Amino acid sequence: MKKPIRVAVTGAAGNIGYALVFRIASGEMFGKDQPLILQLLEIPVEGPQKALKGVAMELEDCAFPLLQDMVLTGDANVAFKDANWCLLVGSKPRGPGMERADLLKDNGKIFIAQGQAIDAVAADDARVAVVGNPCNTNVMIAASQAKRLTADRFTAMVRLDENRGRALLARKAGVAIDEVSDLFIYGNHSPTMFADFTHAKIGGKAAAEVIGDEAWLKTEYLPAVGKRGAAVIEARGQSSAASAANALVDHVRDLTTVGQVHSAAVNSEGRYGFAEGVWAGMPVRTTAPGTYEVITGFEMDAFAKSKIALTNDELVGERETVKDMLG
Ligand code: NAD
Ligand code: LMR
Repeated sequence: MKKPIRVAVTGAAGNIGYALVFRIASGEMFGKDQPLILQLLEIPVEGPQKALKGVAMELEDCAFPLLQDMVLTGDANVAFKDANWCLLVGSKPRGPGMERADLLKDNGKIFIAQGQAIDAVAADDARVAVVGNPCNTNVMIAASQAKRLTADRFTAMVRLDENRGRALLARKAGVAIDEVSDLFIYGNHSPTMFADFTHAKIGGKAAAEVIGDEAWLKTEYLPAVGKRGAAVIEARGQSSAASAANALVDHVRDLTTVGQVHSAAVNSEGRYGFAEGVWAGMPVRTTAPGTYEVITGFEMDAFAKSKIALTNDELVGERETVKDMLG
């Protein structure tokens, strides 16, 4: 039997939290042979703490063999204590008509305090994955406050965008999802993201060739992927939750499975033209559990470069907005 790992989840009684924790406890994120202890954080006020207790009761009632213990708390220093994985979900979602960047002022400060707590108490091998929006910039804030851990330990989630982009290509081409490969998301988790259809494949062939409609790819497909979150909010009246939790399961499972190639927002060292120090979506390959390398071999054409420049400008602008929150 493996030694249990400690997995901290913030906002555990929220919409994503409720769709997420059961899947972690069932072994979908870290494997069916990996026992774990869930350390669940909610804001320290009566309603959310009571709701958190209810979530814990249901977790208990699932009798998951892998779930060895649970910690329920309103204190980040307790939640992140010795945590091997810190999943930062808790923060405000946007409503209809808002952009994710509108959340920066409110949500950014959450990641100052949580970055500091992670720095103080998390395990030496801690990995951090940020979902709370705007996630690329929130992860930068957290990482800047947690200097004990190197920047590569901090990732943000663009996997929902990759999954959306693959599903949309499969639907357009009339093929099964598994036929769509090599679709990677570059840049910000915002409408400026670039879902790189220029290197995507359908059934092993260039997606652009199979789709046969470059205008559709440029003017309909890209905006549809970029604005899918807003479309879900419009339809559901609430931001995506089950698909976001599913994407986080994919994100962490692939980051812990050697050889997996997938999109993640990682600290930029200047590759693909992203400014150094921002967190930008790009393709990564997992080289050891929790460790990855950026895949650098994709040649971008002028169109792709112009899209990447746009999303990079937005990331640099967001960094400027939060400069007072960076440690
Ligand atoms: P929600 O409001 O349903 O739940 C958020 C929970 O976080 C609440 O229970 C709240 O009490 C808690 N919370 C707030 N501040 C906290 C703090 N400082 N510490 C601990 N808990 C705290 O929202 P949701 O639908 O679960 O969404 C959560 C976040 O995820 C939002 O910012 C949303 O925009 C974002 N999101 C990101 C993606 C992505 O692809 N990156 C996808 C979907 C949603
Ligand atoms: C999403 O992409 O569904 C989330 O980031 C929620 C949102 O605000 O769009």
